[in-house]
Amino acid sequence: MNPAGLIFVLALSTGTLALDNGVMRTPPMGWLAWERFRCDIDCDHDPKNCISEKLFMDMADRLAEDGWRELGYVYVNIDDCWSSMERDANGRLQADPKRFPNGIPHLARYVHDRGLKLGIYGDFGTHTCGGYPGTTLDKIHTDAQTFADWGIDMLKLDGCYSNATEQEKGYPLMSQALNATGRPIGYSCSWPAYQGGLPPKVNYTLLGEICNLWRNYGDIQDSWSSVLNIADWFFDNQDILQPAAGPGRWNDPDMLVVGDFGLSYDQSKTQLALWAIMAAPFFMSNDLRTIDSRSRSLLQNKGIIYINQDPLGIQGRRLIKEKSGVEVFWRQLSGGPSVLVFFCRREDMPYRYQTSLKKLNYAAGTYQVYDVYEEKLLSTIKDSTDFVVSINPSGVVVWYLVPAKQMLTDTMLFGGDRLDIPNRL
Ligand SMILES: *[C@@H]1O[C@H](CO)[C@@H](O)[C@H](O)[C@H]1NC(C)=O
Ligand SMILES: *[C@@H]1O[C@H](CO)[C@@H](O)[C@H](O)[C@H]1NC(C)=O
Ligand SMILES: *[C@@H]1O[C@H](CO)[C@@H](O)[C@H](O)[C@H]1NC(C)=O
Repeated sequence: MNPAGLIFVLALSTGTLALDNGVMRTPPMGWLAWERFRCDIDCDHDPKNCISEKLFMDMADRLAEDGWRELGYVYVNIDDCWSSMERDANGRLQADPKRFPNGIPHLARYVHDRGLKLGIYGDFGTHTCGGYPGTTLDKIHTDAQTFADWGIDMLKLDGCYSNATEQEKGYPLMSQALNATGRPIGYSCSWPAYQGGLPPKVNYTLLGEICNLWRNYGDIQDSWSSVLNIADWFFDNQDILQPAAGPGRWNDPDMLVVGDFGLSYDQSKTQLALWAIMAAPFFMSNDLRTIDSRSRSLLQNKGIIYINQDPLGIQGRRLIKEKSGVEVFWRQLSGGPSVLVFFCRREDMPYRYQTSLKKLNYAAGTYQVYDVYEEKLLSTIKDSTDFVVSINPSGVVVWYLVPAKQMLTDTMLFGGDRLDIPNRL
């Protein structure tokens, strides 16, 4: 199928209903505690890194002061291990009093005062994965109301300690309960990850109607093998997953681990590029207080963010998996531009990959090409002309392409020779 035909089919598929709470029309961006800080509750010995209000205030400060918020990174998300082991006298969840001495409403105000949003974690089941109080069927309305009263903006609802029959009731019921509070709360459902992520057990039409995003697959770890394993699973199953995404309803391959310990510089570029192709949520899980400047500039790359946040919300696809270890990914953006990611899974040396736009299903014509990571306008190319890209081991080359008939002057499309990002925030 050529890109034009594909665009038509995909555009139709995004006409399906999305959860009608008005939030997350583009993939949510922000910071989430889990991968980097896990269930570290030892504030006596590790006060800087333990799950406490201090950690979330520190991250809110960084998001607000270090240029993240302006780029769209606005969620500050609490994960497991925030609560007390007991509900309060009225049966409501409560934060651990020692680690959150001012309580969650205070933290929500702190975050909101900085132009950010606060996310929290719950678990549909008897306990959270970390053993804290869970939300059983009889507690769903109470917990939804508690989160709304506190000023919460997003709920990640995990699924430890419940079975498939219960989850079939619980996840839709929480969606209704959140709606009934009258507060728009982004709703992240871990449900499909507990059902193997694929039909017939998972119904993506239903998920799109009740959740804003959903974890389809296992947790990410701070390693290249984990990033690769997740990317492979999502693209191997793209025929099922890709049509499920659209404005307000996103597949979630889990957090960005760029800025942590496990990825090289090239692997960091690869995670960001593939997550942008997937229209994935951009939740960083790293330490924004100590992040190195190279990782920061990758995470703050305006071209990558622009691609990820395309308002059309059509998830991209893998076009080709070559025997050489090169894979090519493609995403259509609104208004005509498209993106190509050339990825090399080889482990030897930069690989010279030769192809043409025609071989990548592009319609006949001439295209203006911008290299997103190099921040360079390349020469214009014809669909039929062979070209060579040099791709680093476990690295990517990311091209942003504009059809020549739409070609704009450098100054209209690019500020200097950088991609000029319209302010969509
Ligand atoms: C609740 O659902 C209705 C109907 O889908 C929608 O119009 C409304 O905006 C929703 N409210 C919230 C707070 O999500
Ligand atoms: C699921 O859990 C409920 C409540 O504990 C129980 O009644 C039911 O039998 C379980 N169903 C299955 C299929 O295990
Ligand atoms: C999936 O969910 C949708 C929306 O609720 C429903 O119309 C459809 O029948 C379900 N599909 C299956 C196979 O159960």
